[in-house]
Amino acid sequence: MFAGEVTLPLAANDDSPAVRHRLLLCAPEYFAVDYVINPWMAGHVHDTDPARATSQWQALQAQLAAHAEVDLLAPAPGLPDLVFTANAGLVQGNTFVPSRFRHAERRGEEPLCIDWFRRAGYRIRPLPEPLHFEGAGDALFDRGQRRLLWMGHGHRSDAAVAPELERMLDVDVVPLRLVDARFYHLDTCFCPLRDGRLLYYPAAFDEIAQSRIASRIPAHMRIAVEEADALAFACNAVDLDDAIVLNRASPALRQALAAWGYRTVETPLDEFLKSGGAAKCLTLRLDE
Ligand code: ARG
Repeated sequence: MFAGEVTLPLAANDDSPAVRHRLLLCAPEYFAVDYVINPWMAGHVHDTDPARATSQWQALQAQLAAHAEVDLLAPAPGLPDLVFTANAGLVQGNTFVPSRFRHAERRGEEPLCIDWFRRAGYRIRPLPEPLHFEGAGDALFDRGQRRLLWMGHGHRSDAAVAPELERMLDVDVVPLRLVDARFYHLDTCFCPLRDGRLLYYPAAFDEIAQSRIASRIPAHMRIAVEEADALAFACNAVDLDDAIVLNRASPALRQALAAWGYRTVETPLDEFLKSGGAAKCLTLRLDE
């Protein structure tokens, strides 16, 4: 890639090897809003439509399967948020750092996720007690600079996790304080894209975090979305080759992404928005 070159969608004769991504998903068999641990869930307790959630999830899975191998975590009764596999933990190569949830309502997910990764042959590396950490919901690898991990804190994960991850994973960790309760996980408002680009909602971060982002990613490599796109979970996107899979994006955002060579794939996930999650939350990358 030359400096200033426009990135085009991957063509059939592209000489880069066909990247086959791997994602972990969990079917929404027991998905529901049974408690309130974020502002999206308020007013939606027992208000989800299981059939609609299932068909939306299946449509998402079909879109993802066009670009990635999909592995499945078995759903479990009484764990309605297990469907949000981004929160299982953080994956780096063969290492799995399991989540330790802030809220008791989700702690029952921890042993099931650890068990899946242990069986799959991963090395399990827990964080020291009593730190809270919500996995790839709050920790996202940069897709340009190697060994750079962006970490959200302030709502769910503890800031003190940053130096621990730095040590355990041998990466630079950039802590980013989240200040808007609607954007309580980093992946609700921040999406690293290929070549070190970024899609994000600046107002979800405190000033120090905004300047940390600005000092590492030049303005022409960042798309700052409008509030309406942020509220439609446009930053909660799964970036796979030329496709970016998300709930919904405005025409202006689709155009900005197209200029970077992305084909925006919208797949409605409003049943999951009632719980505060969308495309990215429903997936965990296993090929990081
Ligand atoms: N209801 C879930 C919670 O509040 C939604 C989790 C969404 N996951 C994410 N990675 N943003 O914990």
